[in-house]
Amino acid sequence: DWTMAEFRETKIAEIREQVGDGKVICGLSGGVDSAVAAVLIHEAIGDQLTCVFVDHGLMRMNEAEQVVTLFRDHYNIPLVHVDAEEKFLAGLAGETDPEKKRKFIGGAFIDLFEEEARKIGGADFLAQGTLYPDVIESVSFTGGPSVTIKSHHNVGGLPERMNMKLVEPLRELFKDEVRDLGRELGLPDIFVGRHPFPGPGLAIRIPGEVTKERCDILRKADAIYLEEIRRAGLYDAIWQAFAVLLPVKTVGVMGDHRTYDSVCGLRAVTSTDGMTADVYPFDAGFLSNVATRIVNEVKGINRVVYDYTSKPPGTIEWE
Ligand code: XMP
Repeated sequence: DWTMAEFRETKIAEIREQVGDGKVICGLSGGVDSAVAAVLIHEAIGDQLTCVFVDHGLMRMNEAEQVVTLFRDHYNIPLVHVDAEEKFLAGLAGETDPEKKRKFIGGAFIDLFEEEARKIGGADFLAQGTLYPDVIESVSFTGGPSVTIKSHHNVGGLPERMNMKLVEPLRELFKDEVRDLGRELGLPDIFVGRHPFPGPGLAIRIPGEVTKERCDILRKADAIYLEEIRRAGLYDAIWQAFAVLLPVKTVGVMGDHRTYDSVCGLRAVTSTDGMTADVYPFDAGFLSNVATRIVNEVKGINRVVYDYTSKPPGTIEWE
């Protein structure tokens, strides 16, 4: 793609100019955006870049391993893998307010990046895969009054106390353009085509209190849902599909006994930039098969519902 080839060259020059001989820390989230940012910056400044993958324990099934493999084996880009599950779960314990959950997670990321920066003798810059819609949506809601809908963990600048400056080479791009750039940079199609996954991870897909147990339950349900979507050949037709674990228990019956377990919500939307979205119209048969599998295979869930809300008025994530 000619345009992306040009964008790549322009950005590489800009990154070199901005960074000089400084050191950069790049936080990888497991998503496409931060991966593309990291590969681009690595191309610009090589080993002045240190990539940090913070595993907050809020990843989907097998996701952490996939990220580590991509960077270490495919790109040979050095990667620090921080296992921070305990820190995040401890900080989230007892918290049910969506904005407080988001703010805690954003702050904990910054703390860990600072810690990694100290370990390499200080870093001058923090790189993020912030996209244009992230910038807009954190500031105001499209066409509406200027209010914050959600604090994106990767937007909003850095705390005063932090001396790192931001490098955000994707700030002008929309998701489809980031995917083009990812292909241009040689990222594998399977990675480039991945559905978006939010930085705060499963924490914002578990309304109410987040615990390890609830993350484990959600990971299983989510994996079944995505497995069925892939099996049906629908993955690429959908912008984003995921399961949500509700803080509501309902009564059910399994065999000859009563159950009293959590409700699982399923969400799937089409979109081009995440700013507006339509509900994906699955066949009834597809959804009932997924519901049956989840209730049969995931202990802790006895009821499955499908979210029929477009954006607006809904948002894509539930928190
Ligand atoms: P919402 O829920 O606001 O989501 O309709 C729009 C798109 O943004 C993703 N999202 C995030 N991505 N950090 C991210 O990197 C965040 O804090 C965050 N919150 C939402 C969401 O998954 C959807 O693709």
